[in-house]
Amino acid sequence: MAFEKTQLQQYLKPYLSDDRVSSMDTFIQHGTTTTLQHALSVTRVSCAIASRLHLNVNYRDLIAGALLHDFYLYDWHNHKTQGTLHGFAHPHIACRNARLHFRVNPQVQHIISTHMWPLTLRSMPRSKEAFVVCAADKYCSTLETVVVYWRMIKTLGKKGGHHQI
Ligand SMILES: [Fe+2]
Ligand SMILES: [Fe+2]
Repeated sequence: MAFEKTQLQQYLKPYLSDDRVSSMDTFIQHGTTTTLQHALSVTRVSCAIASRLHLNVNYRDLIAGALLHDFYLYDWHNHKTQGTLHGFAHPHIACRNARLHFRVNPQVQHIISTHMWPLTLRSMPRSKEAFVVCAADKYCSTLETVVVYWRMIKTLGKKGGHHQI
C-alpha cells in the first residue's frame, strides 16, 4: 500500500483531538522534548521508513501504534511504577491505556507493547509495523538525547575556561 501524507493527517486526527493525547504535551520525554512531540516524531519517522523501504504495512495500525507507543500518561521522571523500572513497565501501561481509551486492535497493541525491545526481552516485535516503530523510537530517542548533551556542551563552552572531567 502506497503512503500519502494526507493519510497521516487523516489517521492522526481522531487522536490529536483527544484530551488524553493532548495531555502528553505536558510531560517531558527527553530534555525539552515533550512526550507528544516525541510520539509525533516517531510517527513521522515510522511512516518515512515504511515508505522509503516500500514495506507493505498497514499505515492505519502503524500510525496508531507509533502515536500511542508512549501513551502511559505520567511524568516518568517522578513516577513510581510499582517497583518496576519505567523502561520495562511503560509499554504495558501505554498498551492498557490505548486499549481502554481507544479500543485499539491487537495489531496496534502489539506495536505498543513491544516497542522497547530488546530491553523487554520476551516482548519482541513480530510484525513489520512493530519493528518499524521499535526502530523509529530508538532513532528519535537517540536524537533527542544527543540534543540534550549538545546543549550542555554549548553551555559549558559559553561559560568559558577549562573544565576537568
Ligand atoms: Fe517508550
Ligand atoms: Fe518512545
